[in-house]
Amino acid sequence: MAGKAVVIVGTQWGDEGKGKITDYFAEKADIVVRFQGGNNAGHTVVVGKKKFKFHLLPSGGPHRKIIVIGNGVVVDPKVLLEEIKMMQDEGFDVDLKLSSTAHVIMPYHIALDGMEEAIKGKFKAGTTMRGIGPAYSDKAARFGIRVWDLLDKAILAEKLEKVVPFKQKLLESLGSTKKTDLQSIVDEYFQLGQNLRKYIVDTPEIINNYLDEGKSVLFEGAQGTLLGIDEGMYPYGTSSNACALGVSAGASVAPTRITAIFGVTKAYTSRVGEGPFPTELSGDIANKIREQGHEYGTTTGRPRRVGWLDAVATRYTRRINNLDGIIVTLLDALSDINPVKICTSYLLDGKKLGYWPIQAEILAKVQPQYIELPGWKQRSDQEWLEIARQQNLEALPKEVQSYLAKMEELLAVKLSAVSIGADREATILLRNIF
Ligand code: IMP
Ligand code: MG
Repeated sequence: MAGKAVVIVGTQWGDEGKGKITDYFAEKADIVVRFQGGNNAGHTVVVGKKKFKFHLLPSGGPHRKIIVIGNGVVVDPKVLLEEIKMMQDEGFDVDLKLSSTAHVIMPYHIALDGMEEAIKGKFKAGTTMRGIGPAYSDKAARFGIRVWDLLDKAILAEKLEKVVPFKQKLLESLGSTKKTDLQSIVDEYFQLGQNLRKYIVDTPEIINNYLDEGKSVLFEGAQGTLLGIDEGMYPYGTSSNACALGVSAGASVAPTRITAIFGVTKAYTSRVGEGPFPTELSGDIANKIREQGHEYGTTTGRPRRVGWLDAVATRYTRRINNLDGIIVTLLDALSDINPVKICTSYLLDGKKLGYWPIQAEILAKVQPQYIELPGWKQRSDQEWLEIARQQNLEALPKEVQSYLAKMEELLAVKLSAVSIGADREATILLRNIF
């Protein structure tokens, strides 16, 4: 029988707690695959007493699973080698399959990231400065270097001979005074390719073989759906399809092979970077949520913008991902706020909008309409953990139960799990996802 292909995506602007949830489910999978993004992501994997911070590697590694970087990812080889070394230093073998057709983030992509942002002015996304956008631009323009190109010095040199002088001119025209030496880039990136050689494979074949063999494959989204290039709030997002729509293109697995799709939804909303944010909060409530939810970027350390749960936006992401269930996280971070609010609809020029309007210019003008629900009091990590251990929603404070019931109703989706604390084990599993 063909194996299960389960997808986990973020339903908001990222940082929904996907890392922790993927980590939790990775234990039950045979293989964990990343299909989009690059080292703009950041998540923490805790195994026993060890804590790993990954930006690029899928989260299954410390669970001694096969990990795959699919063709839809953009790869900074230096970051990848550092993360592999970090795992090896902790005594883990790294069973990595790196797609030969993933694109490589080159030094000129990183240099251009900040310069492009400066030109964009108010249209800048507030990127992580990791070269993500410029690398995906070159991929689309068929100007990119793929992982496989790193393995053959002649091919690499032939491509870089065209690209590097062009990028050099571009960088100079934007004010850069740094000289790029073609030969040293060829030498350096060929060597990086040699260091990665043993991991490089044709992933379309490999992933589909695993499924044919009946293995369980978990696909982890790296950013949230609303940051997606096509489905998110353009241009204030990232450069890849950060939702279930990206799995087929980014891992070369047909849509009909996917067996289930789950969304991770934070009990409130957060966003790093620029762009309209209808339910954004400021002042004391925002500060409280930010502190209780540790809302500071994993990759850049930036304080995150926070706001109420936006059921209009999340209903949209539930729909386009056709979610089988949601996993709600960070309920504990909403504690000691009374009442708590959920945005149920938007008004635009006094008229009710029935759906998420997608366009940033419209989203900047909408007025969110809220319902209020009674809040709940804070508990210690240990108390939340004890509640979770009962593995029953009825063990939760009744206000939390009402909040969850409202989420199910407004988003028109069933709960699959609820996470109520920092600890990975503080998760109430309501049904198996594999
Ligand atoms: P880029 O992906 O570095 O180009 O950044 C584009 C936008 O996506 C910026 O607003 C970033 O803050 C945001 N972004 C990228 N990756 C993440 C993530 O993992 N979590 C939250 N926001 C992200
Ligand atoms: Mg993150």
